[in-house]
Amino acid sequence: MAIANEAKAKGSTIKEYRINSLKNAKGCQSCYGCKKAGKCVVKDDISPILDDMRAADNIIVATPLYFGHASAQYRMVEDRFFGFLGGDFTPNIAAGKKAAIVVTCGSSIDGANKTAAEMQAALGGFLKMEIVGTIVKGGMMAPNAAESDAAVMEEAKAIGKKLA
Ligand SMILES: Cc1cc2nc3c(=O)[nH]c(=O)nc-3n(C[C@H](O)[C@H](O)[C@H](O)COP(=O)(O)O)c2cc1C
Repeated sequence: MAIANEAKAKGSTIKEYRINSLKNAKGCQSCYGCKKAGKCVVKDDISPILDDMRAADNIIVATPLYFGHASAQYRMVEDRFFGFLGGDFTPNIAAGKKAAIVVTCGSSIDGANKTAAEMQAALGGFLKMEIVGTIVKGGMMAPNAAESDAAVMEEAKAIGKKLA
């Protein structure tokens, strides 16, 4: 949230979604409907997120590390980004979007770095967004632990400024 709060303080309008709170959410169904329609055709609580991402200038994504991977909640939404790729697998979303990535984990950041690299590959590689910052932070076992870490908060603010 600190990244978004800084961007907001600099004048950006922010929309926040917590995937865990969605009641009706599905992963990609591999229907390939998006390759005909130009967008994901699955209709559920993830659809407005995808619509907002398409309209947004910039995005911030965040996940905890679970068993060495991005959380299932994040992965469910990430697969739905398939609808942002046309039939030739080039992006059908506007060019020039910036993205920031956050991965937190309980222990050291070894596994989290790999997960962050995979998220960068999806957003920066496939969707051609500009990755303006990636925070990978270990030792975050307690809920909201990052908020009491001054160094992480400074890092977040610096990234937020780049998104404003
Ligand atoms: C199911 C589960 C699996 C986890 N797996 C890992 C792991 O593989 N490596 C690690 O360092 N931390 C692991 N953790 C710790 C979480 O990454 C850590 O608690 C997370 O940063 C909390 O973020 P949150 O406060 O946003 O939920 C795991 C936690 C849970 C609940």
